[in-house]
Amino acid sequence: MDLYEYQAKELFAAHGVPTTPGETTQSVEDVEAIATRLGTAVMVKSQVKTGGRGKAGGVKFAPTPQVAAEKAKDILGLDIKGHITRTILISEAADIAEEYYVSYLLDRSNRTFLAMASKEGGMEIEELAVERPEALARIPVDALQGVDLAKAEEIADAAGFPAEVRDQVIQTLLKLWETFVSEDATLVEVNPLVKTPTGQVLALDGKVSLDENAEFRHPEHEAFADLAAENPLEVRAKEKNLNYVKLDGEVGIIGNGAGLVMSTLDVVAYAGEAHAGVKPANFLDIGGGANAEVMANGLDIILSDPDVKSVFVNVFGGITACDEVANGIVQALGILGDEANKPLVVRLDGNNVDEGRRILTEAAHPLVTLSDTMDAGADKAAELASTGV
Ligand SMILES: Nc1ncnc2c1ncn2[C@@H]1O[C@H](COP(=O)(O)OP(=O)(O)O)[C@@H](O)[C@H]1O
Ligand SMILES: [Mg+2]
Repeated sequence: MDLYEYQAKELFAAHGVPTTPGETTQSVEDVEAIATRLGTAVMVKSQVKTGGRGKAGGVKFAPTPQVAAEKAKDILGLDIKGHITRTILISEAADIAEEYYVSYLLDRSNRTFLAMASKEGGMEIEELAVERPEALARIPVDALQGVDLAKAEEIADAAGFPAEVRDQVIQTLLKLWETFVSEDATLVEVNPLVKTPTGQVLALDGKVSLDENAEFRHPEHEAFADLAAENPLEVRAKEKNLNYVKLDGEVGIIGNGAGLVMSTLDVVAYAGEAHAGVKPANFLDIGGGANAEVMANGLDIILSDPDVKSVFVNVFGGITACDEVANGIVQALGILGDEANKPLVVRLDGNNVDEGRRILTEAAHPLVTLSDTMDAGADKAAELASTGV
């Protein structure tokens, strides 16, 4: 989960990373009062989950509360790379003498963590990384050793931070590492980290991605979820503990096991080429031990997606026997009643397949077509989606 800047800064503040105070709002009406409360010149900052806000006109300086309200009017509703600004952060404006860059991230290709730092941060960091990569220090961080004082010194010195800020940068690197580890983040980035004219080091921007696999350790992170910006079907699926991802095609997919579901997506996309280019509408892994309730929940989510024109259920019985899955489908269709209104193609194989097929054949539900193979099932589901039967 990616966080908004203001949320990243809440984590920074909690871990002692120095930053500027601020408040968020979704309404122009509040802005004057917030700026007055802060009692300084402010920056009005679009809160969207994409970079380059400054260049897109989403970050504006306001010397007075009245100007802040004017800038807020321009920024609320502003579209930045397809992200509409609904929330703004009114943050104390810092005087900037120098802009730096620091980050920690999970470096998947090298199977390690990576620290990056530069004394030339700011809005041109992408260009810097391409044109003068030597100006951006990259230091691998061992997962077991982490960032201790010696490592933080190594990172700061590789980037060549000026002597007068070296100690503050090192302290900031240590606190950002603490943030990275204790919050289970996969990315913590500060750009810019600045030096003020009086020599103070401050984080003026923050980008944090949290590892969703570690969600169970952080019930407090739930407050960061922005349900309004999430796909409503994904929110419903999550409430039911389903492993569901919305895609942009027309063939609903249900399978057991992430690998089988992934290959089902491929096979359906391929079959769709011969049927008006229809594509998979979602990823849904019902996992092992799929009972009628799980099947009903899965079908319910998929059938309530208006983009879905047909559904392909592709199950390989292993721990879960095919007869249980077949019973699950029959009961699910019973539970859903009239809400089940799109054709289903079902392919079962593996443990107890004969019994599974017998149950579905006997039930003879008018929406259900049985298929012997994955390829044939994918083709049938794509055909049904393309004709919209
Ligand atoms: N609180 C602040 N005080 C002063 N300048 C700021 C402040 N926040 C941002 N800026 C300036 O605006 C630029 C862009 O803001 P930033 O938060 O980094 O957005 P983005 O990275 O999306 O462009 C920064 O590089 C910095 O120069
Ligand atoms: Mg920035």
